[in-house]
Amino acid sequence: MHENGTIFIADSDVKTRDLVSAFLTYQGYSITFAEGGAPFFDTLKKNNVDIVIADLTYLHSIAPDFEERGSLINPLMVLIGYGEVNSGENKKTASDSVFTIPKPLNLDELESLVMRAREYQSMKLYDNSAGGSSQYQLLSATMIGTSPPMRELFEMISKVAASKATVLIQGESGTGKELAARAIHQLSDRHAKNFVPVNCAAIPDDLLESELFGHVKGSFTGAYANRIGRFEMADRGTLFLDEIGDMKANLQVKLLRVLQNREFEPVGASKSQKVDVRIVAATNKNLEELVISRDFREDLYYRLSVIPIVIPPLRERKEDIPILIHTFLTRFNADKRNAVKGFSRDSLAILCNYEWPGNVRELENLVERLVILKGSGLIVPDDLPEKYLSGKVPHSVSVQSLGLPAENLLPEGGICLNSAVDEFENNLIMQALARSGGNKKEAALLLNLKRTTLIEKLKKKNLAFSED
Ligand SMILES: Nc1ncnc2c1ncn2[C@@H]1O[C@H](COP(=O)(O)OP(=O)(O)OP(=O)(O)O)[C@@H](O)[C@H]1O
Ligand SMILES: [Mg+2]
Repeated sequence: MHENGTIFIADSDVKTRDLVSAFLTYQGYSITFAEGGAPFFDTLKKNNVDIVIADLTYLHSIAPDFEERGSLINPLMVLIGYGEVNSGENKKTASDSVFTIPKPLNLDELESLVMRAREYQSMKLYDNSAGGSSQYQLLSATMIGTSPPMRELFEMISKVAASKATVLIQGESGTGKELAARAIHQLSDRHAKNFVPVNCAAIPDDLLESELFGHVKGSFTGAYANRIGRFEMADRGTLFLDEIGDMKANLQVKLLRVLQNREFEPVGASKSQKVDVRIVAATNKNLEELVISRDFREDLYYRLSVIPIVIPPLRERKEDIPILIHTFLTRFNADKRNAVKGFSRDSLAILCNYEWPGNVRELENLVERLVILKGSGLIVPDDLPEKYLSGKVPHSVSVQSLGLPAENLLPEGGICLNSAVDEFENNLIMQALARSGGNKKEAALLLNLKRTTLIEKLKKKNLAFSED
């Protein structure tokens, strides 16, 4: 009966406690409460608790040491409270074991949070059972990037791939949302079945329903034959709902129903059909804002964002630019049988400091165009389109390109010397590696270092690079 796990509820407010307990019992969880006088952590152990849902203030009173011990225990914490937490905070990454949610409670949000907590627990188990690292390697071969946010993303993707949980990928246009969705499918045990993309923004509203769910012959003008929908095509595979933020209200209701019941009705059909699909949704809109403006259903939002993944824009991970350029250059040289050698130091510096509003897609397109137009030799600033040159070039470029003492480098308000030096060093190393095509010996030469010293530095900085 209570197959979903055991939840411990600690809240002195009887109304909240009863509400949460009734709601979660109905969802198939077994519930236990704080026992009078028994030490908090002993009760958790004795009852084999999976998740603790606690009122922050009350938890402080029954377990004053929970902050020190909380992260050491196995159960995950869902903390609720007035004022102390705000709703933006409940977007935690896989490594966190504490989730927070504000009062007054929103049951949809609570349910989503509990589902997410359970997912993280199963991912943790999976993590310990080895095999994760080969997935990671596979992933870093298709999604390029060595910056900390990209590493986090790879880790997240290889963990969520194993589960069936619904994933919501958010990120600006061109950041790699579809690439990430495909990677999740590829790394999952559904990879032998279909990955079915649906672009919710590209299909006219009146056709989207039949596109998703299929239709029976004669159900509307033009329905000449039975047709299966994308849900059915994705059976036992993955359905990728792209641009989900553009889905109209009436379809949002229908989608919600499929997510809840795992069954759908083709247009004009009298019977519903079971499906086993894993949903990955993506959007470049801010869904939370759409929820506030009532353009997106709140309950659907919580259903979709069981595992939220945010891909940061390229300008927030500029250290990935050299390696992306190098990868695309190699690819387009091969595709087009061209022999562009590389980018000159100053052209690379310009591109590394550009803001990339179109993100990786813009970078990829630029490299492709340059390879075609240039054909061979080295790409210099003159080869770059005007808009890349016109931007204000930050001071750091002068340091990068010259390596000489520059004036005006010290900002008005001062600088953190260590991290600035560190960033400068990282930048030079990545540029050297990009220019040498990843060859460490050559890169070391460019930097006037011993190869072993460079490798040491890479290790220390956690910049993984394959052995050569
Ligand atoms: N980390 C990456 N490594 C290599 N290629 C990437 C990376 N990120 C994105 N790309 C490439 O950039 C292009 C855009 O990626 P993708 O289509 O996945 O972006 P998107 O976030 O879905 O964009 P949009 O919101 O515009 O649909 C693709 O050609 C993809 O292969
Ligand atoms: Mg896309």
